Amino acid sequence: MSLKDSIESVKNDFLTEFASIGDSSSSEILKQKYLGRNGLVTELFKELGKVSSDDRPLYGQLLNGLKNELFEKISSVQSGSDSNDSSDYVDIALPGKSYSRGSSHILEQTFTDIKKIFGEIGFSVAYGPEIDDDYHNFTALNVPEHHPARDMQDTFFVDKDIVLRTHTSNVQIHLMEEKDPPLRFIVPGRVYRNESISYKSYCLFHQVEGLFVEKNVSFGQLKGTLEYFVKKMFGSDRKMRWRPSYFPFTEPSAEVDIWDEQRNQWMEILGCGMVDPEVFKSVGYDPKVWRGYAFGMGVERIAMLKHGIDDIRLFYNGDIRFLRQF
Ligand code: DAH
Repeated sequence: MSLKDSIESVKNDFLTEFASIGDSSSSEILKQKYLGRNGLVTELFKELGKVSSDDRPLYGQLLNGLKNELFEKISSVQSGSDSNDSSDYVDIALPGKSYSRGSSHILEQTFTDIKKIFGEIGFSVAYGPEIDDDYHNFTALNVPEHHPARDMQDTFFVDKDIVLRTHTSNVQIHLMEEKDPPLRFIVPGRVYRNESISYKSYCLFHQVEGLFVEKNVSFGQLKGTLEYFVKKMFGSDRKMRWRPSYFPFTEPSAEVDIWDEQRNQWMEILGCGMVDPEVFKSVGYDPKVWRGYAFGMGVERIAMLKHGIDDIRLFYNGDIRFLRQF
């Protein structure tokens, strides 16, 4: 018999036997019989030496093809994926598939920390619209049209009178329009500014607004509350400082900075102050009866300072190597 015929006949024999095997243990016997050290296919390879060097490449190819085909058939039974295999063999000793779990985004975790700290001292959580009218974002907060303070916050306009809110302070107005005093709320949310982008400023970011309205509220209470917050958030050793500031909706106004250990400089995290009587007038609260304090803090900056993140853009580019660290 020529080598070519032998290859054909080994292949046919194999296929006949293969068709009748039932499970992976009989496939192992078949594997030994054909592909083992003295198997039928292995023996054929030994014949290669006897054919002429002209024919050898052709037969080599045929034999390799045969070997691969048999090998694939047998492996498919052994891994249980061959449709010829009627048995449903399951190896219960194999380890299961593992699925990696997602986790909450670092900004979400920071929101959770902030809500917890203020929740423990009596603040409820409220939300408000991200797309709002000019009145709630500016006018009712004592920022009339053409007031230079509007330039402090470069605004994205949706329509002539409709804006993407530039701060969560718009929700102060919604809350006071809807509820009678006293009030004690924090408002987490997303805000938008058409600003130039840098390591600490992005076109969208997050804030938590705070509003406390009572008959007797003092700047001292505001100061005490925010110092308590900073200690809880960053630990009592973290350097913070107060600076006088200006906001149209508070009088007096201040800002709080935290020491940025990465860059060796101060970074502003919040603005605050005593609610301006003009704001109370625009929502129909009597400024002779009610007083209040308010604050608005930047959530990305707090997360940056707390975790040593040196660029705000990292929160937004979705790089899994960054996200996995938290
Ligand atoms: N809305 C201000 C900003 O985005 C921050 C702010 C300052 C909020 C003073 C306040 C406040 O409630 O009282 O820059």
